[in-house]
Amino acid sequence: MSAFDDIYDKRILTDEDFEAVRKIVLEEYFSREPVSRKLDLTAEEAKLSSDSIIQEALKHQFSLGAFDRVTGDLIGCRISVMRKKMDGDVFPENLDDSPLKIRQLFGIVMSFFKNGGIAGVLKTEDYMQCIFLVCRKDRSQKGLGTELMRRSLKLAEQEGCKKFFTIAFSHYVQRIGRRLGFTTVEEMLYEDYVDPHTRTRIFCDIAEPHHSASLVVKNL
Ligand SMILES: CC(C)(COP(=O)(O)OP(=O)(O)OC[C@H]1O[C@@H](n2cnc3c(N)ncnc32)[C@H](O)[C@@H]1OP(=O)(O)O)[C@@H](O)C(=O)NCCC(=O)NCCS
Repeated sequence: MSAFDDIYDKRILTDEDFEAVRKIVLEEYFSREPVSRKLDLTAEEAKLSSDSIIQEALKHQFSLGAFDRVTGDLIGCRISVMRKKMDGDVFPENLDDSPLKIRQLFGIVMSFFKNGGIAGVLKTEDYMQCIFLVCRKDRSQKGLGTELMRRSLKLAEQEGCKKFFTIAFSHYVQRIGRRLGFTTVEEMLYEDYVDPHTRTRIFCDIAEPHHSASLVVKNL
């Protein structure tokens, strides 16, 4: 029992939660996560880049939501996939026909996995991957993000995963990772990152405190 249990009903998300997850991701993730915010995706671009990933993740039934016990609203969630439930990586294989901003978004993610894909970099296929961690701004800084991540680690452990990882674009998630014992495998400073599509440093003016994207891994 944690202090959050009085306020939030935390449960595994299913296909039926798709609309609520999509809403919080569109309204709270794409507008505040530093890289998406900088790219300033339209609602259509945001949906295009996230709908199929959310659908895949909900099928896996390893994603967690925190619902306000009074209103029933989804206040925060952590959306994850497990490699063993898929044929390959969750990210789209071919983005050639996608809008530039979507290619730029996935470009920075995939820059961490140039050598051997995700399983090659992690050296195992036995992993759970956190794709989105998002909590409503009006409830932030009270530990809900940390709590969702902590519970996710337990869930991954129970499922027999060897590693749990995420790309932490946000300084706040990097803090959560440090607190929960994640290791930083690779860090990309925003001021140094060169977008392969425009050959410019598109993220160089992302505002403090966010200064890097990090591949953070927890061995389970
Ligand atoms: C990242 C996010 C999920 C954190 O949720 P949260 O409920 O505020 O998380 P916590 O309360 O556990 O905070 C984690 C740490 O970040 C700090 N933090 C979070 N938001 C902050 C803010 N706006 N200003 C300053 N510090 C903040 C907390 O104080 C805490 O620091 P501590 O480790 O020193 O105690 C939330 O800010 C969010 O949804 N952001 C938009 C989407 C996003 O960026 N997702 C992550 C992409 S990698």
